[in-house]
Amino acid sequence: MVQRRQFHQSQTLQEKFNALIPGGSHTYAKGDDQYPEYQAPYISKGKGCRVWDVDGNEFIEYGMGLRAVGLGHAFQPIIDAAHHQMLQGSNFCRPAMIELQAAEAFLNLVPGAEMVKFAKNGSDCTTAAIKLARAVTGKNKVAICGDHPFFSVNDWFIGATKINNGIPKAVSDLTLKFNFNDIKSVEALFENHPNQIACFIMEPEKYEPLDLNFVKALQDLCKKNGALFILDEMITGFRWHTGGAQTLYNIQPDLSTFGKAMGNGFAIAALAGKKEYMDLGGIYHDKERVFLLSTTHGAESHALAAAMAVMKIYQEENVIEHFHFQGERLRNGLLKSIRENQLVGHVGIHGHPSCLVFSTRDADKNPSQPFRTLFMQECLKQGLLAPNLVLSYSHSDKDINQTVAIINETLKVYRKAIDEGVERYLEGRSVQPVYRKWNHEDRNKDKQI
Ligand SMILES: Cc1ncc(COP(=O)(O)O)c(C=O)c1O
Repeated sequence: MVQRRQFHQSQTLQEKFNALIPGGSHTYAKGDDQYPEYQAPYISKGKGCRVWDVDGNEFIEYGMGLRAVGLGHAFQPIIDAAHHQMLQGSNFCRPAMIELQAAEAFLNLVPGAEMVKFAKNGSDCTTAAIKLARAVTGKNKVAICGDHPFFSVNDWFIGATKINNGIPKAVSDLTLKFNFNDIKSVEALFENHPNQIACFIMEPEKYEPLDLNFVKALQDLCKKNGALFILDEMITGFRWHTGGAQTLYNIQPDLSTFGKAMGNGFAIAALAGKKEYMDLGGIYHDKERVFLLSTTHGAESHALAAAMAVMKIYQEENVIEHFHFQGERLRNGLLKSIRENQLVGHVGIHGHPSCLVFSTRDADKNPSQPFRTLFMQECLKQGLLAPNLVLSYSHSDKDINQTVAIINETLKVYRKAIDEGVERYLEGRSVQPVYRKWNHEDRNKDKQI
């Protein structure tokens, strides 16, 4: 018998959060609109792959801090390393030795990179990469992979989404899109914007496997047309391979960006790349200078200590193997449950084993937000917090088995909702995509362009 969770305290808090914080959260991906209406828990603490909310509910968790936590919440060796460093001071007016040590550790791990600069946010790093590419090439346009959902909070990326209010059209117009694994879409951009594109930026992999011939052809075209190739490893770094997807696939990008799991929840991100480009941000060359990355908190010493401890654990323990092993167990368990509940084509599991995502489709097999809401609603009730299915080193056999059992119960309800209509089973409004122009999309359809 499943014990149903109550969310009274969380519901009471929603109004206050939204009164004080625009969006009710400091990150849109954590907003109320991303969760079922009456099951949006506020978190009080986490340990390993479990979190507890303000109502005292315990959940097995698969959001892992928007993929920023790879080892597990409050992972003791990382906390110890950060704490030890904190006692030596956090920030100084000259570089601390740990900045060099962290740079050495990172560059040893990522052989394709020759120099690295640290920052707090991934967005600062991808934006710095774009600026550097523009400075190197003298060109203004940037090509982003249109199949990848997020590269930065900055104008060059958000300007190319639906929610582009406040961003000058002149800036948005400089961003172009190409398709993943589709070299024709790359050729078309070079053809239609000759001698204008500074760089191509993409994640190494998302939902479908990377075609190595595509990436090779893309790099060749970039070289031929004088553009830089930027690999955004914010998610794949510290998940696909200890040295990033670029090491796994033997790709040498001109620039690459890291963050997320690198600090196991501590704020640290990195811009890495070839010396000939990165060094333009240096102070000893004779070329025109580039104001590369320069942030007050970029070298916060306890975040660097946390990152070094993360790197050490990845090198000494089988973290990547664990992701593969448990991720495949989870995938196989769910595929079995999907088959048994006759939901093939309605529910799908996709992506790399360390970073699985589920897809939800309606009776006609069209992508469905109401069915996504139902899936999350039924999981949350049973103690599973799963905006997607992101693994950590802390997810054990037992956690995976429990997850599969909970999702199996969820899919029984999903099956009934397919047969009888999702409205009968939904307890509140549907979740909504972050990239929407209006909060109440339907009510404002007439206003949409
Ligand atoms: C692929 C990718 N690049 C860049 C970013 C931006 O990182 P941050 O949120 O640390 O600014 C994200 C964040 O979700 C991301 O997923």
